[in-house]
Amino acid sequence: MIGDRRIKARIRELARQINKDYKGTVPVFIGILNGSFIFFADLIREITIECEVDFLKLSSYGDAKITSGNVRMLKELNCEVENRDIIIVEDVVDSGLSMEYIKKLIAQKNPKSFRIVTLLYKREAVKIPIAIDYVGFDIPKEFVIGYGLDYAQRMRNLKHIYRLKG
Ligand code: IMP
Ligand code: MG
Repeated sequence: MIGDRRIKARIRELARQINKDYKGTVPVFIGILNGSFIFFADLIREITIECEVDFLKLSSYGDAKITSGNVRMLKELNCEVENRDIIIVEDVVDSGLSMEYIKKLIAQKNPKSFRIVTLLYKREAVKIPIAIDYVGFDIPKEFVIGYGLDYAQRMRNLKHIYRLKG
């Protein structure tokens, strides 16, 4: 279990680093829906530099616990990416397939820079190695729920992060 106070404390550390790294720029934070919505809201309120926000929605899991490896786009970007500093905000990187898709999608639009922040990182589950710039917590290859993360669309509203048994 990762408690909400520990999550918030780690988010403040991540934000402090991002504020420092992006000083003097106006980055665009892109949240990956739905899972990142709570993390995004907490992170963005710790950001003290000027910034913009947008959201992207992908689907790959259906309602299952294992990745289908088939990523689809359900909501496109509305922001200008060209020549902007892009920061992708993700809840969890598992196989890395979603992030690989996002990376290619953004790269096509010629950003000035591209970085990734993820709250959770299942290092041992990664199939496609991708450089993650800011990691909240490294976690084992186990399914987790709460704090925005779902199982079959439910339990996103739980305050803390829990491992799903079974
Ligand atoms: P990947 O493409 O396999 O890296 O999967 C990334 C996406 O799958 C994340 O954005 C999550 O929405 C979802 N996901 C992966 N692992 C979990 C988990 O343990 N709990 C809930 N959702 C997960
Ligand atoms: Mg997600």
